Amino acid sequence: MTFHKTLLGLAACAILAVSGAWAQSYPERQITMVVPFAAGGPTDTVARLIADGMSADLGQQIVVENVSGAGGTLGAGKVASAEPDGYTLLLHHIGMATSATLHSKLPYDTLTAFDYVGLVTDVPMTIVARKDFPPGDFSSLVSYLRANAATVTMANATVGGASHLCGLLFMSAIETQLKTIPYDGTGPAMIDLLAGKVDFMCDQTTNTTQHIKDGTIKAYAVTTPARLAVLPDLPTAIESGLAGFDVSVWHGIYTPKGTPAAVNERLSAALQRALASPEVIARFAELGTEPSSAADATPAALKARLEAEIPRWKTLQGLALPQGSAK
Ligand code: MLT
Repeated sequence: MTFHKTLLGLAACAILAVSGAWAQSYPERQITMVVPFAAGGPTDTVARLIADGMSADLGQQIVVENVSGAGGTLGAGKVASAEPDGYTLLLHHIGMATSATLHSKLPYDTLTAFDYVGLVTDVPMTIVARKDFPPGDFSSLVSYLRANAATVTMANATVGGASHLCGLLFMSAIETQLKTIPYDGTGPAMIDLLAGKVDFMCDQTTNTTQHIKDGTIKAYAVTTPARLAVLPDLPTAIESGLAGFDVSVWHGIYTPKGTPAAVNERLSAALQRALASPEVIARFAELGTEPSSAADATPAALKARLEAEIPRWKTLQGLALPQGSAK
């Protein structure tokens, strides 16, 4: 009998070891944070800022890896199929929800392929153009777009990008179909906008604020209900006549499904401390945004937000327009 008990005891220890008791010593090595858009864009900017803060708290380096393509779904798919060991994270935004509607086939099931760490920030968007674009203000922009719809080019980060979502809503609001130029992110799109190779786009303040201040691009409106302290002279789309036009880009950090809860909680604690740091608060303010609260930087809050946002954007199915492949 003793022999069998010993054997059962050993088996129990082995199961405990495999089941994730190692999570108590997590992290023991470098962590990868996948950003599903090209380097230099708004998602990349948020990720690198947060990764620095979380690395300090975790005592292990978080390395950002850009895995762009298909509107963020390639990068998300890579994380969905990664080992659930806490060493591969995904930082994604509202596109996690809109892709569930706008993409007919995804390499993952949005609601079952991921575990959750927490919300990071909710970023306003701006309607911006190359600096020599003819319209001088928002109302003349709308008139100009309607009159030149066949030739004007609008950049976005392809189907699933926040810039794509905002562009869909904007075209619907002004009842005008525009020619869209897809990129692997609005980092590359901004390079073309600054060079005058593309006419305009809707992009996040984390990518546009400094260029607007420098005068190297032209800004027409911000997409939040209230003006931004960092851009006080920029009117809202609502005050410019687009009733109810309210778009902002929430961001969250995910892990592959099956990641031990202790690991997700440890990552959430590091995220909360990074978001509360003076450096992150100050940098986010310069970029027109602010950190999510400690209560929102939790697995439960991100799960609830994603589950609420997927049905919210089902209405987009009527707006989704075919696009070419990314530049
Ligand atoms: C978006 O449009 O979703 C983002 O701008 C993509 C990016 O971060 O480049």
